[in-house]
Amino acid sequence: MKSLTLKLNGAKITCDVEPRETLADFLRERCRLTATHLGCEHGVQCGFCTPGMLMMARDILLRMHHPDAETVRSQLSGQICRCTGYSGIVTAIVAAGRELGRAGQAKGVRESGIQVTAIAAVPAKVDD
Ligand code: FES
Repeated sequence: MKSLTLKLNGAKITCDVEPRETLADFLRERCRLTATHLGCEHGVQCGFCTPGMLMMARDILLRMHHPDAETVRSQLSGQICRCTGYSGIVTAIVAAGRELGRAGQAKGVRESGIQVTAIAAVPAKVDD
């Protein structure tokens, strides 16, 4: 055991830890800060990339009216997801672009930015 002292959320904490104990485990299990994620270590989709994906999706839909899958893949190339492929994400963005265009809401998205968050819930398969 090693003594660990740190400042956590403004409070000084000192406790004994095993050298192999990860900070994530320490935060989650001992401090009950369960919002701390272990990333892709568990092979489930962790969601680490989701905020970046949503921000990029919003940006794509602000700049392009009806991006096709190839364009979306190219635009997402700077976003890294270590858990899974990008098919579902690309499909969702393409579908959102089509839906927004069909509903004539692209202008509204550009102005508000709020509606784009709904793309995360678009499960539809897009036929290109
Ligand atoms: S879901 Fe884990 S990095 Fe994308």
